[in-house]
Amino acid sequence: MKKIMLVFGTRPEAIKMCPLVKELKKRKNIKTIVCVTGQHREMLDQVLRAFNVVPDYDLQIMKEKQDLFDVTVNILTKIKNVLRKESPDVCLVHGDTSTTFATALACFYLHIAIGHVEAGLRTYNLNSPWPEEFNRHAVSIVAKYNFCPTTLSRDNLIREGINPKTIYITGNTAIDALKTTVSEEYNNKYLEWAKNSRLIMLTAHRRENIGEPMIHMFRAIKRIVDEFDDVKVIYPIHMNPLVREIANNVLGGEERIKIIEPLEVIDFHNFLARSFMILTDSGGIQEEAPSLGKPVLVMRDTTERPEGIKAGTLKLVGTDEGTIYKNIKILLENDDEYKKMSRAQNPYGDGTACKQIANILEGDNIC
Ligand code: UD1
Ligand code: UDP
Repeated sequence: MKKIMLVFGTRPEAIKMCPLVKELKKRKNIKTIVCVTGQHREMLDQVLRAFNVVPDYDLQIMKEKQDLFDVTVNILTKIKNVLRKESPDVCLVHGDTSTTFATALACFYLHIAIGHVEAGLRTYNLNSPWPEEFNRHAVSIVAKYNFCPTTLSRDNLIREGINPKTIYITGNTAIDALKTTVSEEYNNKYLEWAKNSRLIMLTAHRRENIGEPMIHMFRAIKRIVDEFDDVKVIYPIHMNPLVREIANNVLGGEERIKIIEPLEVIDFHNFLARSFMILTDSGGIQEEAPSLGKPVLVMRDTTERPEGIKAGTLKLVGTDEGTIYKNIKILLENDDEYKKMSRAQNPYGDGTACKQIANILEGDNIC
């Protein structure tokens, strides 16, 4: 019997790891252990509830306005005993958060094999996204299994000299989750409110955007709402108090902009599916939107997800107010441009990533 531990701590990691927890738990030859760091609290618990996953360990590290030192040090200190006690054959981490990095470092110190889910994403700019680009590079140095979503992410690792025998292309587990959430019948009071308008779904939270860049993004959106009577915006806002302060200052009090609490993932996916377009600096949403055929303006200078740009559904628009405003306006006014960006395409696999990862872990002689 192989013992596999999954460690995650934030909303996006949970959304992409919970389907894998479920898949691994079905396997007779695998004992599955779940440890959450609690880097996020409410937003993590929302996902655990939605997928009905009960963690075996919860490190409960979140505190308000935590900085990168708080998160890294607290995880490193607290996870040591869990890893020592359980001594898993493989510890799975996901993506590029501080939870991912600190857990991989702890595993490295304890000589525990690491499996990296969503491996090989790169911008090759250490400041964008920050600190995520560093985190994912660091995990690649020590991972024994690299589960890449696409050939592009595999090629990045090969170019960096990672042993090809450790690399598997599986698709992204985000697509596994998406398959189960969107439904024709879905409705909600906010979607009723947005009926008969063109709905823009907005999310923004990146650390490097907090401050001036975020003020620019929100000002551009306010200009659009002032100019187009038929546009409404829903912004399920991240719980970071720094983000909330800026959003309330710039967007608060606008009749056609609703700032609401973070949505449960099932609700959020259905909101995306009903929207006219999406404005975001999120990573995960860049993976989900191409499947839904919704144009996405990515309010960042870089992306580690060029697959969506190539597919034509994503456009990088940076964080300058004028540029964001201009690009939203084009999609609102130019039907051809809109149609070009709204063809449904999915570069992230066929929704069997979890099955493939479980097969590899089950089949490999890892003990
Ligand atoms: C983290 C990840 C980022 C990921 C994002 C997803 C790092 C360095 N960053 O950034 O890669 O894109 O999660 O959302 O790991 N808060 C709450 N309740 C919650 C969650 C957050 O109150 O459920 C507040 C806390 O005040 C916390 C702050 O948000 O201090 C920031 O959370 P943190 O995890 O440090 O950073 P994120 O910006 O969420
Ligand atoms: N999401 C959600 N509720 C919301 C906003 C986003 O469930 O109100 C989901 C979204 O579908 C995606 C993930 O959260 O799967 C993205 O998380 P986030 O933007 O916080 O982090 P990132 O992907 O940028 O790391």
